[in-house]
Amino acid sequence: MKIVVLAGGHSPEHDVSLSSGSLIANALLENGHEVVLLDLYEGLRLTAPLASYFHAPGSGAPFSYRVPEVAAELQPLSADASLIGPGVMELCRFADLVFLSLHGSMGENGQIQAIFDAYGISYTGTGYIGSLLAMDKDLSKQLMASHGVLTPRWSIYDPAVPSDIPFPCVVKPCSCGSSVGVALAEDAPSLALALGKAGDYDDRLLIEERIVGREFSVGILDGRALPPIEIVVTEGFYDYRNKYQPGLTKELCPAPISEALCQKLQTLALTVHSALRLGYYSRIDFIVDAGEQPYCLEANTLPGMTPTSLLPQEAAAAGISYTDLCEKIAQAGVK
Ligand code: DAL
Ligand code: MG
Repeated sequence: MKIVVLAGGHSPEHDVSLSSGSLIANALLENGHEVVLLDLYEGLRLTAPLASYFHAPGSGAPFSYRVPEVAAELQPLSADASLIGPGVMELCRFADLVFLSLHGSMGENGQIQAIFDAYGISYTGTGYIGSLLAMDKDLSKQLMASHGVLTPRWSIYDPAVPSDIPFPCVVKPCSCGSSVGVALAEDAPSLALALGKAGDYDDRLLIEERIVGREFSVGILDGRALPPIEIVVTEGFYDYRNKYQPGLTKELCPAPISEALCQKLQTLALTVHSALRLGYYSRIDFIVDAGEQPYCLEANTLPGMTPTSLLPQEAAAAGISYTDLCEKIAQAGVK
C-alpha cells in the first residue's frame, strides 16, 4: 500500500507525534509498504509526481527518531493560517491509507477525521465522533460516569464560581495530552498558578480531585483488552518529562497485580472504549486507590508510539511486535 503517516501539526504534542510517526513510518516500510511521513502543519511543496514522494519498501529506516525533549510552546496562529500544510490533502487523497500519528489538537479531536470522511480518505483508528468525545475530558468523564465507571470528581473552571473540588487537586487543559499544561495544586495560591499555566493551552480547564494510588493503563486492540501496564515514576508525577525521557519511569508490563484487579481494569477499559465509541484501538488510563478501587482518568484515541510509550509495551506483552502492531492498525484502517 501507499501510506501517508501524518504527524506533527499545530499541537503542543507536535514533537511526540513526529517521534511516534518516524518509528511507525519505518515499521510500515519494513512491512513492505511505500511510505511518506508528513507534518500536517508544514506539509510539502509538491514539484514532482505524487508517487515520487513515497519511500520504497526495503529502503532501510530513512525516518529519523528524536526523543521529544520539552513540550512545544503552542505558537499563536496568524488569522489567515491554514492548519493543513501545502500538499497534505493531495498526498492523502493519492495514498491508499493515512496512518494517523497525530497527538493533540485537530489530529486527535475529530476534525481531521471529519475532513477525511468528507473526502473519502481511509485513515487509521477512531472516527470523528469518538475522537471528539475522548479528547474532551469533560464529555468523556460524563460518559464514563453515565456508564457506571468511576472517575475522579471534577468541575470545569469558572472564574465566577469557587471550585468545590477539595485539595489536593489536579488542573488539566480540557483537551490536551501528554500532561501538557497539567499541574497539581495543594492550596488556593498553587491552584491559581496551575490555572494560569493550563490556560496557555486551552480555554476550558478541568479541576479534578487528586486520587492518590497506583497508576495503570490498558490498551484496547481489535475489541480486546491488552495486559495492563503499571507506571511507576521515580520523582514527581507522570508528566511530559517522565513520559518521554528514557529511564525516568518504570513501566511494568504485565502489571504485578492480582488476577481480579487485572480483570477489573480490562473490563472497565472495554466499557469506556465502547461508551466513547472508539475504533480499532485505544488506551485507557486509570488510578487505583489503596482500597483497590479503580478510577478512570481518560481515554486516548491516538496513543503514543514512542519507545517509552505504553501501548507498544502492552502489545509486546501480548506477543505482538511493534511492526505487527502497526500492520494490524494499518489493515484495520483500509476501507
Ligand atoms: N497523548 C499521548 C501521546 C499518549 O496518550 O500516549
Ligand atoms: Mg491522554
